[in-house]
Amino acid sequence: MKAAVWHGRRDIRVDSVPDPEIRQPTDAIIRVTTTAICGSDLHLYEIMAPFLEVGDILGHEPMGIVEEVGPAVTNLTPGDRVVIPFVISCGDCFMCHLGLHTQCETTQVREYGSGAALFGYTKLYGQVPGGQAQYLRVPHAQFNPIKVPHGAPDERFIYLSDVLPTSMQAVEYASIPPGGTVTVLGLGPIGQMSARIARARGARVIGVEPVPERIEMAKPNGIDEVIDWNDPENLGDAIRDLTGGRGSDAVIDAVGMEAHGSPGGKLAQQLTGLMPGPLARKIMETAGTDRLNALYTAIDAVRRGGTISIIGVYGGMADPMPMLTLFDKQVQLRMGQANVKRWIDELMPYLAGDDDPLGVGDLATHRLPLEQAPHGYEIFQKKQDGAIKVLLRP
Ligand SMILES: NC(=O)c1ccc[n+]([C@@H]2O[C@H](COP(=O)([O-])OP(=O)(O)OC[C@H]3O[C@@H](n4cnc5c(N)ncnc54)[C@H](O)[C@@H]3O)[C@@H](O)[C@H]2O)c1
Ligand SMILES: [Zn+2]
Ligand SMILES: [Zn+2]
Repeated sequence: MKAAVWHGRRDIRVDSVPDPEIRQPTDAIIRVTTTAICGSDLHLYEIMAPFLEVGDILGHEPMGIVEEVGPAVTNLTPGDRVVIPFVISCGDCFMCHLGLHTQCETTQVREYGSGAALFGYTKLYGQVPGGQAQYLRVPHAQFNPIKVPHGAPDERFIYLSDVLPTSMQAVEYASIPPGGTVTVLGLGPIGQMSARIARARGARVIGVEPVPERIEMAKPNGIDEVIDWNDPENLGDAIRDLTGGRGSDAVIDAVGMEAHGSPGGKLAQQLTGLMPGPLARKIMETAGTDRLNALYTAIDAVRRGGTISIIGVYGGMADPMPMLTLFDKQVQLRMGQANVKRWIDELMPYLAGDDDPLGVGDLATHRLPLEQAPHGYEIFQKKQDGAIKVLLRP
């Protein structure tokens, strides 16, 4: 089969690789019909090189048709249409029963002290072959796949794999008080959907984003207060000006470690990206390569006693945190990878009718054949050609 394969920093190629096979009784094989590129893939593209190997198949936002199931998979039959969550969880351990599927005790990657295994996401998360491919082996298929009806186009459902549950968790973890204000930093796919879900639940939403077409996409979806990140001298002041001088009740950081505006971090990123192997791993783990610009903005812009929900991914181990400010302002912090299955029942009603209340139909800006995955990564990373969400069709 064909698959998008990592060859090095900013070097993705579409290679011929062996077809996946059923290995465990709980496996299934799906034929992928649509598979997306995510902001999280950009971390692999740019700075996570020390944790990848040439030949790793990328991708964690796939959907498709069940081809084959192992003997223990009784809930699926070939021909079913399924969306595959990016988190691989068993559904039946202590953590899964708590709704903390990203901490699944069956799939935790203990060798690296990590949480649940993820598709296409480095050795830290199990080095599981990913979904930017024609076929995908789905472990724990007795639990993970989300069955969706045939009929509507893939774009209706594809975002159940990551974008929508992640955004819903971001909003839940933000604990926005009734009638309160949430500031969403970053209006990529995750920020767009976090803003829309918060809005649908009655919150006032202030967006912050540097890229013009992303600011423009927010408006027709009811997010009309957007600050261009390039404009204000001080973002915290700009947000306090809009919130009675106090700051935002809640802030969602939907940016993560690819943030603009932290040049020191950029240097370290480039260094580790160019220096694969144990040395770079050490630097990433101990010296810290995060670009904390967005997180610092969140800490400044949140009101005293407010909540910061970090949904953007961070990865360093020694990043300086302003503990004095966090402690003095009595800030609450919540974060983590999305517990995808935890949010599906709440999301389904938004996708059931044809009215598309979250505007999932307008998120994808590019639909490319899988062969053009390298081009897709490039325009998404460089924010060229208006790329906001890129879907690949294998
Ligand atoms: N926690 C999870 O489970 C989970 C799941 C999916 C994605 N993510 C993470 O969420 C983040 C966003 O994902 P995405 O797909 O929307 O990616 P993206 O890269 O398209 O979005 C990031 C947005 O932030 C903007 N931005 C950059 N620097 C900024 C700054 N300093 N202030 C404000 N905005 C800034 C960028 O212009 C971009 O629009 C990534 O870090 C990704 O890894 C987390
Ligand atoms: Zn993703
Ligand atoms: Zn589990």
